[in-house]
Amino acid sequence: MKMHIFLCIVLLVINACIVASITLKNDKAPVYENCTNPGQFVLTFDDGPNPRTTSIALKTLKEHNIKATFFINAVNYGNLEEDSRSIEMVKTIFEEGHDIGSHTYYHEDLFTAIQKGTMEINIDNMTDIIDNIIGVKPTFFRPPGGYGGYKEIEPEKIEMTEKIQKYLGSHGYNIIMWNTNTKDWSYKDDVDKVIENLNIQLKAPDVSPKTHSFIALLHDVHPTTVNNILPAVIEYVKDLGYKFVSLSECIEVSPYQGINFENKNDESSKLKNMENSTIPSINTNSSFSIQDNNSGSFSFISNIYNLNIIYYFIFIYLLLSIFLNIYKKKYFT
Ligand SMILES: *[C@@H]1O[C@H](CO)[C@@H](O)[C@H](O)[C@H]1NC(C)=O
Ligand SMILES: *[C@@H]1O[C@H](CO)[C@@H](O)[C@H](O)[C@H]1NC(C)=O
Ligand SMILES: *[C@@H]1O[C@H](CO)[C@@H](O)[C@H](O)[C@H]1NC(C)=O
Ligand SMILES: *[C@@H]1O[C@H](CO)[C@@H](O)[C@H](O)[C@H]1NC(C)=O
Ligand SMILES: *[C@@H]1O[C@H](CO)[C@@H](O)[C@H](O)[C@H]1NC(C)=O
Repeated sequence: MKMHIFLCIVLLVINACIVASITLKNDKAPVYENCTNPGQFVLTFDDGPNPRTTSIALKTLKEHNIKATFFINAVNYGNLEEDSRSIEMVKTIFEEGHDIGSHTYYHEDLFTAIQKGTMEINIDNMTDIIDNIIGVKPTFFRPPGGYGGYKEIEPEKIEMTEKIQKYLGSHGYNIIMWNTNTKDWSYKDDVDKVIENLNIQLKAPDVSPKTHSFIALLHDVHPTTVNNILPAVIEYVKDLGYKFVSLSECIEVSPYQGINFENKNDESSKLKNMENSTIPSINTNSSFSIQDNNSGSFSFISNIYNLNIIYYFIFIYLLLSIFLNIYKKKYFT
């Protein structure tokens, strides 16, 4: 009898823990602005695709064997609703081994979108259109203008940021900010100005590849960026001694939902994958493997629900046996 009560309590506690862990799943999207390990450098490109310029960036990246991340829009410089060249460009980015992230459907800043009621379209329809083109849903999200990723001070903005981060978190996204900005859109082909601006962060006192890592912001939609700024930035960063890595290697998070990330420090397998860089990484022996039919987090949650049902059955059985015991004592002794 006492044993039964004790078991009941133990089961209730375990149950509370399980429920808590499910609720935690719906937490805010994490915000990243640098890498886990020092010495790493990531190139990220916003606002594409632009069929006229993105391919030039891809050529330079291939020459240097660099895997970058492209935060794309459906309707901006390109048009993924109706322009087949834009759609092909996205496929090519993916097939060349770069990561695709979401930058919203219309490049609408999310503070405005949340007030107009268009946040859901900007986030969900972008997920769907990416899934339709490359067959996987992204986990990387960059908010236009950074709204939703910055630390805000005004109460109204804190509240909107909270809403945005919760929404993104419950839709499988991580928020990717940056900690060095080329300002390529503003300096155009003034490469010296771009390097001067990078120096502010990269040559600050006590900053070195031994201690620091960077996620850099560029825009592959401008001819000046892809023709002049990108090659110059690559040389400059290499000279400082940083190693170019993909965003997924930098933050140790899989770029796509339902696909496992394994941080293999196995140089030989990495080299082999680089050889065949035109094959989408998912179909080769790369760091990522399709886990199962469900997305990873979904199958995790459904497993836990199944576990929970078993707990409930044992719990009800114990409760019943306690009541039967009391009943027997009351009427039969
Ligand atoms: C967004 O997605 C919904 C549901 O799939 C669809 O009904 C709607 O037309 C889409 N809107 C745009 C602008 O693509
Ligand atoms: C990343 O940024 C945080 C916060 O500024 C800092 O504490 C940490 O050392 C940085 N890590 C790397 C590897 O750059
Ligand atoms: C890379 O491609 C070559 C030929 O195209 C093939 O022999 C080799 O097995 C491939 N390697 C991997 C890791 O897929
Ligand atoms: C993956 O690796 C296995 C063994 O490690 C090998 O047999 C297979 O051919 C590889 N597949 C590809 C696509 O490279
Ligand atoms: C995933 O599930 C669908 C329908 O439930 C099924 O048709 C498909 O074959 C499954 N794919 C894999 C890889 O198991």
